[in-house]
Amino acid sequence: MSAAKHVPTYTVPSLTAEDGAKVAEILQDRLNSLTDLHLTLKHVHWNVVGPHFIAVHEMLDPQVDAVRLMTDATAERIATLGAEPLGTPGALVASRTWEDYHLGRATAIEHLGALDEVYQGVITAHREAAKATEELDDVTNDMLIGHLGELEQFHWFVRAHLESATGKLSTEGETSELGAARAAREAG
Ligand SMILES: [Fe+2]
Repeated sequence: MSAAKHVPTYTVPSLTAEDGAKVAEILQDRLNSLTDLHLTLKHVHWNVVGPHFIAVHEMLDPQVDAVRLMTDATAERIATLGAEPLGTPGALVASRTWEDYHLGRATAIEHLGALDEVYQGVITAHREAAKATEELDDVTNDMLIGHLGELEQFHWFVRAHLESATGKLSTEGETSELGAARAAREAG
């Protein structure tokens, strides 16, 4: 079921089938990442507790909706390129290179700390994918750049909760979700 890696019999006009396959493979990884992200955001929406519950609970639903739209555009671009988008949970888990979200029921500030790390990872990989498609396919590149504008704004929504009046993030220097959650809790 890894047809995204196979050379399609057709792709969009002016791209070679090989380049269409390359772009589709890049997009399959982004589809996995965005699907993982909207499911994780819902998981946080359901498991956030304590003070600021309602603010974080309600902040996340528009992000879930926007990221779901990004998955749809990404999957349909893969199909447009002549490849096969893989959207099942099993395919996602089998091919993802990152770990499942680490927190269950936890306070708002801990989830926000962990989500800072989640967005850090998704945005970094999305920027790499945008860079990799710059020379291959302008339309895909434009779509990814559009996603980044929204993802980076959502990342700011998360980070604004973790920021001091002097502009310092409580999660600065952390590289894991649990470490960031702990740093955010200790600062809050
Ligand atoms: Fe809900």
